[in-house]
Amino acid sequence: MGEKSGENVLEVRNITKRFGAVQALAGVTFEVARGEVVALVGDNGAGKSTTIKMIAGVEQPDEGEIVFEGESVKLTSPSMAEKLGIQTVYQDLALCDNLDIVSNLYLGREITRTLIPGLIRVMNKNEMEQRAIPVLKELGINLPPLTTQVASLSGGQRQTVAVARSVLWGSKLVMLDEPTAALGVAQQKAVLDLILRLKTTGKAVLVISHNLSDVFKIADRIIVLRLGRSVASFIRSEVTPEQVIAAITGASEEAVVSQ
Ligand SMILES: Nc1ncnc2c1ncn2[C@@H]1O[C@H](COP(=O)(O)OP(=O)(O)OP(=O)(O)O)[C@@H](O)[C@H]1O
Ligand SMILES: [Mg+2]
Repeated sequence: MGEKSGENVLEVRNITKRFGAVQALAGVTFEVARGEVVALVGDNGAGKSTTIKMIAGVEQPDEGEIVFEGESVKLTSPSMAEKLGIQTVYQDLALCDNLDIVSNLYLGREITRTLIPGLIRVMNKNEMEQRAIPVLKELGINLPPLTTQVASLSGGQRQTVAVARSVLWGSKLVMLDEPTAALGVAQQKAVLDLILRLKTTGKAVLVISHNLSDVFKIADRIIVLRLGRSVASFIRSEVTPEQVIAAITGASEEAVVSQ
């Protein structure tokens, strides 16, 4: 699996994680290069979300190594991962319904201006909007006016806001856990198109999906996890959905690439 190491934004090397009696990860190894979309697939409980949480700094591995831009890193908190340029879009999205789009894009990074020196600083929404607009444009993101309340958006638009937020901040690696689950057909397509745009802007993208048809539309490589182990790494153009399914279920051990 060690190809293209010079270009790799992320290298995960043999990480393990135990929660009490549960061995959630038993040896996960893969890499993601700049401008590459890698899909992480596997059955329920295979360890996909746990893997992402290690890279997002939410959980720490027991063993193994995470290498980010060539440096071995200990990600002890989500903010540390964010500072390095690792952004995560979780399934529950964590948008604030009571705020408008622009406030959600800037959550925790609001631009303020001084109203009364030394006393009152207020959010400078105008500047926030002006800075967000070109980034959204570059990504081909179509959203209602940025002053629209998030509560009134559709599922796909909410997902778009969450993805847009993850790329607004000079991120180098964007991770998405089930980005199209619960979306309608047109919304799914919009989110998949957005993921492909991330790739063209040079981000490294790691996406978890149960939807193999989505995976085959967007991924350059497909990593299969089974029972907490990375058991296969496929180049999308060289594999069939049947072979991926066989690796997911363990039905065909010859499809398994040992590490
Ligand atoms: N905080 C935790 N405490 C105990 N066990 C956990 C914890 N987090 C995950 N696990 C266990 O680790 C294993 C892997 O879970 P994980 O959520 O990574 O799976 P997944 O591949 O994302 O599955 P799904 O497709 O259902 O989302 C499961 O057996 C799960 O029960
Ligand atoms: Mg999961």
